[in-house]
Amino acid sequence: MKKVLFIQIACAAMMLCACGGNQPSVQSFDDIVASRRSVRDYDASKTISQEQVMELIQCAQEAPSWANQQPTKYYVAMSPEKVAAVKDLVGDGNKRNTAGAPVMIVSTYVKGKSGFFRSNPANEIGDGWGAYDNGLSNAYFILKARERGFDTLIMGMRNSDELRKLFAIPDDECIMAVISLGYRASDPNRPDRKAVNEVVKFF
Ligand SMILES: Cc1cc2nc3c(=O)[nH]c(=O)nc-3n(C[C@H](O)[C@H](O)[C@H](O)COP(=O)(O)O)c2cc1C
Repeated sequence: MKKVLFIQIACAAMMLCACGGNQPSVQSFDDIVASRRSVRDYDASKTISQEQVMELIQCAQEAPSWANQQPTKYYVAMSPEKVAAVKDLVGDGNKRNTAGAPVMIVSTYVKGKSGFFRSNPANEIGDGWGAYDNGLSNAYFILKARERGFDTLIMGMRNSDELRKLFAIPDDECIMAVISLGYRASDPNRPDRKAVNEVVKFF
């Protein structure tokens, strides 16, 4: 029994190290997935350090990408002024819902990398593969955030032109989601999911 417990703890520690973690987690992957929700109510009294954000991005870097192109980039607003400026660019509803979040992050991908072979689109998806890779990185990011006790909200409603100016984002990067990062102030609901048999066909 003791031996099994030791092996479980060692495995969890090894997985965390691969994601840049430095402390073993006692949460199972399923627990993290279950407790991760889109949070729209943040505790404004709590802060997050640059080092903590770096750990999440380190984990996001472990996500797979087309030919290991790693096209995703992150622009992290930490100062109160920059955080407020980003919140002004996500629409009134999102601004209200992220009011207490201490960190706002813009994710982008470099165009013409994922999905391309010798500068030509490898198939009909083209630059869509950059968006795909960005989503994978962000999935790692939000799950690692939850594992560390943080909460997130992915926002597709955002003013990309103004965000580009705010962070001087180069034209060869496509601006995708804004992600708020903070601590939940109240427990979020779990929106229903379709039954698994509605989304899968086995052959
Ligand atoms: C690409 C994308 C864009 C989204 N944009 C917004 C948004 O602008 N505002 C918002 O409140 N939620 C947004 N969401 C969150 C979804 O509404 C949420 O993930 C969904 O309702 C499922 O809830 P859950 O994340 O709590 O499981 C977005 C999610 C994704 C993946």
